[in-house]
Amino acid sequence: MLAGTEEMKLMEEAVKARQRSYCPYSKFAVGAALLCEDGTIVLGCNVESGAYSPSNCAERTAIFAAVAQGKRKFRAIAVAGGNQGETAGPCYPCGVCRQVMAEFCGEDFQVICKNEEGQIESLTLGELLPRNFKLL
Ligand code: THU
Repeated sequence: MLAGTEEMKLMEEAVKARQRSYCPYSKFAVGAALLCEDGTIVLGCNVESGAYSPSNCAERTAIFAAVAQGKRKFRAIAVAGGNQGETAGPCYPCGVCRQVMAEFCGEDFQVICKNEEGQIESLTLGELLPRNFKLL
C-alpha cells in the first residue's frame, strides 16, 4: 500500500502526463503514471486515431512503454482524466485496460483515481476486475 503522500505524488505525475494527450476526436484527455517495482515512474497518455479503433488509452500506453523498457513488475498506477481544458475529474480505467493490468499485476495492484468529489480514491485491481481471465 502506498502512503497518502505517495498517492498524491503519483496523481500529480498523471496530471502532468495528461498534458501530452492526443485526443482531437473525443477531446477527453487522460494521463497515467505507472509506479514500477524498481521505483521508477513511467508516464502514458491516450493517443487517438482518426480511424478510432486504433486509439490507445493512457493506462495501456504507460504499461506498454514500461514493458518495452524491460519492466514487468508494477506497484500502482494513477489515472487523471476529463474533458480537455478542464481539471481532471473522475476517470476509472476501462475494461480493456483492467485486463492488461491483470496480465502483469496481482489483485493488490493499486489503482489511484479521482472520485466524483475530486478526492483521491485508491482501489485494488482485485476490486476492479475480480475473477479475471488468465491464460498462464
Ligand atoms: N481513455 C483512457 O485513456 N483511459 C480510460 O481509462 C478511459 C478512456 C481514453 C480513450 C479515448 O481516447 C478517450 O479516453 C475517450 O474515451
